[in-house]
Amino acid sequence: MVTAALPYANGPIHLGHMAGAYLPADIYVRYKRLINDEVLFICGSDEHGVPITIAADKAGVTPQDVVDKYHTMNADVFEKFGISFDYYGRTSSRTHREISQKFFKKLYDDGVFTKKTENQFYDAKADMFLADRYIKGTCPKCGYTEAFGDQCEKCGASLSPSELIDPVSVLSGEKPEMRETEHWYIPLGNFQDWLKEWIDSKKDWKPNVTGQCRSWLDGGLGDRAVTRDLKWGVPVPVEGADGKVLYVWFDAPIGYISATVEWAAQVGDPEGWKLFWQDEETELVHFIGKDNIVFHCIMFPAMLKAHGDYILPKNVPANEFLNLEGQKLSTSRGWAVWLHEYLEEFEPDQLRYSLATTLPETKDSDFSWKDFQTRVNSELADILGNFVFRTFSFIDRFFDKQVPPLVNPDKKDLEILNSIKKYGEGISEAYEKFKLRDAVSQTMNLARAANKYFTESEPWHTRKTDPEKCGNTLHVSAQLAAALSVYFFPVIPDACKKIRKSLSLADILQWDEVHPEMVKPGTEVSAGEILFKKLEDEIIQKQFDKLKTTEESAAPASVEYAEEKEPFEFDDFMKQDLRVGEIVAAEKIKKSKKLLKLTVNLGYETRTVVSGIAEYFEPDDLPGKRVCVVANLKPRKIMGVESKGMILMAENPADSSLSFVETDAEPGSSIS
Ligand code: 2FM
Ligand code: ZN
Repeated sequence: MVTAALPYANGPIHLGHMAGAYLPADIYVRYKRLINDEVLFICGSDEHGVPITIAADKAGVTPQDVVDKYHTMNADVFEKFGISFDYYGRTSSRTHREISQKFFKKLYDDGVFTKKTENQFYDAKADMFLADRYIKGTCPKCGYTEAFGDQCEKCGASLSPSELIDPVSVLSGEKPEMRETEHWYIPLGNFQDWLKEWIDSKKDWKPNVTGQCRSWLDGGLGDRAVTRDLKWGVPVPVEGADGKVLYVWFDAPIGYISATVEWAAQVGDPEGWKLFWQDEETELVHFIGKDNIVFHCIMFPAMLKAHGDYILPKNVPANEFLNLEGQKLSTSRGWAVWLHEYLEEFEPDQLRYSLATTLPETKDSDFSWKDFQTRVNSELADILGNFVFRTFSFIDRFFDKQVPPLVNPDKKDLEILNSIKKYGEGISEAYEKFKLRDAVSQTMNLARAANKYFTESEPWHTRKTDPEKCGNTLHVSAQLAAALSVYFFPVIPDACKKIRKSLSLADILQWDEVHPEMVKPGTEVSAGEILFKKLEDEIIQKQFDKLKTTEESAAPASVEYAEEKEPFEFDDFMKQDLRVGEIVAAEKIKKSKKLLKLTVNLGYETRTVVSGIAEYFEPDDLPGKRVCVVANLKPRKIMGVESKGMILMAENPADSSLSFVETDAEPGSSIS
């Protein structure tokens, strides 16, 4: 049972998604099918969650409209890329609603959840409780005025809505009121010991995955809310839960199960899903990106364990992130390659191969258009494509289109024929260990060896000097092409099908059907088309330029000036004592990514101010700066350091960069 993370249906799929989960999952599944494993590959759209309702509000359409659009679009792109899901479901389906409700109900009935009454912001005008993302206000940590109820995007602090200063509802702009509400929580602490033992037993998991799990476990697991006050989602199926839906991360992973149930019904075997989710012999593997690790390795396993009727994941080979041209992908900045746009210019196999060679398997990796071009031109075209084309056109021209027999083969012929199985074993071993990059590079090595063999055998000479040897070269080359058409199938299925067609081989061949005599002498071979056309510099430059232009045009559009705050009285302004202060020393605060401890000379005294700017400035660059200080702010202890006052910063609305408000006035001067 193989799953790939259900992508949110609120935007198109880009390169990062593909490299993180979908391509590796597809390559793995295709390999598994080739070795005759019974494998089911499930995915679908994740159609709940607050970002979807916010996108709908913004566009003035319903959440269903949003998910309908992107569900169709994403399913289409996956299909065009050859991502061979057995079923692509969606979490707004009726089956999904029923199954996730049943799941919740079972845990509810078994007393797994704890119920808590809490105060939550309520927008009386919009008549609804406000999810964290629906509340904005001033960040208590850095003073950013547009912080969300769950996180400040400026200083990165993770917040709860009640911490915001001057919170307002995103929906009505009104100040929300506090109301009591009840929610159900899964007490993950109850699963702590079991989870620890379970994760510790996973000796074959990737270290980046177990490492993340351990740091969650070391921090101690708390209660996690599994319900929300929202209108969009799966209604909570118990009494007294009107207006409540399941938390999106509760229902989304159940989506794997419900999609399997829908698949089973579709293939006419309604009970067939059980084999994949309830049979202890079944191996469940989740392909995800690293941001999903906690949900797939802690939360979902705890849910499955609590339920009791389902198997647990055998492995979760999560990938790190893919960067683009050396920078983090950013959809809002337009720093992304959208796959539906890629398909307007290029072939799926070209990207499948080049991405497969750069998968962020153990650490973040980088995609660049230049590297893409090199992979296509120097590897796919010059090695694999060239070898196959030379072989087929030679047989076509000089052997009357028929594969010649092998007669008195020499050492070189036998050596390479006998290496075929060895390559197969090495590639297999890498796939079994989820070392996909390694598997792909070993496969290309076979093509490289084949190409070299062809060149060194010089059939264009032996054709006249030693026709029997020439025939052997072409016989062996045809066998190698056939083997490559199987070994490369997980990665570049379209090209492999073309090779097989030229060799009159069956459409589907299994891994163990690869052997040195796959192609019978006399088999008709057609030269066929060129497998991989080379990519010119211009087309690559065009993509690069497009990226730059999108980024530039995205930048001004994203300038959003913060709205002016409410007017206030002069006397209120006069309450704050603004002073010029000179920074005399600056150092990082241990264990904090964001905080700097600044020593500031105010003329009449020197004091410590803690400032959340560590991600923007190097401590060494700060001494000597004369800046504006709110001198009479009440002292606060931050990370154990007493902070007296606050430094004023200016934030550029275009890119959120920070600058000091500098002056050359003497330290201690009043600012008014
Ligand atoms: O991070 C995401 O894109 C989520 N929609 C993944 C969900 S995976 C699963 F649990 F459904
Ligand atoms: Zn902040």
